[in-house]
Amino acid sequence: MSLDISSLFSVERKVAVVTGGSRGIGEMLASGFLANGAKVYITARKEDALNLKAKELAEKFGGECIPFCVDLSNIEGVNEFVKFISDCEPEGVDFLINNAGAAWGHPFESFPESGWDKVMDLNVKSPFFLTQKFKTLLAKKGNSEDPSRVVNIASIDGIRLPLMETFSYTASKSAIIHLTRHLAKTLVKDNIIVNAIAPGPFDSHMLGKAVNFDYSFIAESIPRKRIGSPEDIAGLCLYLCSRAGAYTVGETITCDGGAVNAT
Ligand SMILES: NC(=O)c1ccc[n+]([C@@H]2O[C@H](COP(=O)([O-])OP(=O)(O)OC[C@H]3O[C@@H](n4cnc5c(N)ncnc54)[C@H](OP(=O)(O)O)[C@@H]3O)[C@@H](O)[C@H]2O)c1
Repeated sequence: MSLDISSLFSVERKVAVVTGGSRGIGEMLASGFLANGAKVYITARKEDALNLKAKELAEKFGGECIPFCVDLSNIEGVNEFVKFISDCEPEGVDFLINNAGAAWGHPFESFPESGWDKVMDLNVKSPFFLTQKFKTLLAKKGNSEDPSRVVNIASIDGIRLPLMETFSYTASKSAIIHLTRHLAKTLVKDNIIVNAIAPGPFDSHMLGKAVNFDYSFIAESIPRKRIGSPEDIAGLCLYLCSRAGAYTVGETITCDGGAVNAT
């Protein structure tokens, strides 16, 4: 038994995959792993920004951050990515963080079908197929003492009702929360633990462009009176992926300054 923080929360020398790691919450999560000695793979569709970010993070934290440019909203992209990781990491992968996501806001009366397809493909279908196709790689690393982990990035909009008309987004985030439990039940016997994080507001392209990058109104509405920081979300993800989180299964934990549970 080791209860000192350095081993209880360690992710040193682990291999982490963070989808959508080129900015926003994915960048925060990748940074948390790198700062604590893990090797990290990040993905995105915009190649230049992705490569720049991987270089920047590797220089900042001194670890290995490997970019892979891919569209994960379709099965071809998922297969291509899994093949790349299988070739790079034949011994397996410790953590899969299904973070890449998309939102779509539009008035109810004319909300389009494309706004459902884009969001459901990336926010629900893609995490399912990534988890399915990463299973062998995750199972190689996981054992009963030290299981491998999947962390799905959901949203508080999948728990409570949002202010904006983001119908497919809220449905997709509720879906990933329930899918997290279903996948957890399926994979726990293979020493793969599946959990989710439901973030509140964080500085990102997705939220920022909806509020002209002025978060003051949102911050005021949050019980903690601020939006989330990299420490908030990376800390929770590190807990879920370390020894400390090895008995937490199928859970969705809010990281929202009290937006869901203290209002
Ligand atoms: N920010 C918030 O306040 C907030 C709150 C609750 C939940 N979340 C969730 O947190 C996750 C990250 O969101 P974010 O706010 O950080 O968003 P973001 O700033 O828009 O970042 C999204 C990331 O995903 C990548 N991505 C988008 N579409 C992709 C695709 N088809 N294939 C592969 N990668 C793709 C983006 O890069 P490319 O565009 O180059 O592909 C980028 O790296 C999402 O699941 C979101 O729903 C965010």
